[in-house]
Amino acid sequence: MTEPSADRWNAVDSYLTETLVAEDEALRASVASLAEEGLPEIEVAPLNGKLLHLLARMSGAKRVLEVGTLGAYSTIWLARALPEGGRVVTIEAEPHNAEVARRNLDRSGIGDRVDIRIGRGADVLPTLTDEEPFDFVFIDADKESNTIYLDWAAKLGHPGTVVVVDNVVRSGLVVVPGENSQVDGVRAGLAMLRDDPRFDATALQTLDRKGWDGIAVALVV
Ligand code: DHB
Ligand code: MG
Repeated sequence: MTEPSADRWNAVDSYLTETLVAEDEALRASVASLAEEGLPEIEVAPLNGKLLHLLARMSGAKRVLEVGTLGAYSTIWLARALPEGGRVVTIEAEPHNAEVARRNLDRSGIGDRVDIRIGRGADVLPTLTDEEPFDFVFIDADKESNTIYLDWAAKLGHPGTVVVVDNVVRSGLVVVPGENSQVDGVRAGLAMLRDDPRFDATALQTLDRKGWDGIAVALVV
């Protein structure tokens, strides 16, 4: 068996992306804006962006919640999955990130479907209880708070809500308890997905232009 090498997995990532993911100018510009505006270049890979888009469509999601907007690359993919009248609420702690995201969303033609709420997830999520429930939730913020975000995903969702958690492998460090606070946050989130009767879940490792990481996919039952 061929061992994985960075050259080969990056070639595979490019091949699959070129074959299956048509990024338009707005998506490309939102990626470029991260370096230009001094944001960390930690957006999801194109194949993962399209996966989010397809999962949202497959689940018939009309209301999408995102925790961690960054430059809105994943937000654009999610907003483009919505039917007429659908809405994305996306939470971003950094006001400068939110400004960059707003510009990117408006350039992508679907800015009117997206509300950016500025603040920490733990502060903003409790303000959403009076809104209609969410059908799809993407958690991609500070990993230390994953259990808080999952708890709100269940509270603000309904049976059938799909929840995706980014970055659950962290270059393999997820199997090293105590390695750092992010790893411990990811592990606590995965333990919650196992133990909390509100969820059923699985996770997949990914190896791509963003390195070695993974996503958890859960259903609110
Ligand atoms: C980090 C955060 C992310 O959401 C990501 O996709 C990659 C890296 C980080 O904090 O290092
Ligand atoms: Mg992420």
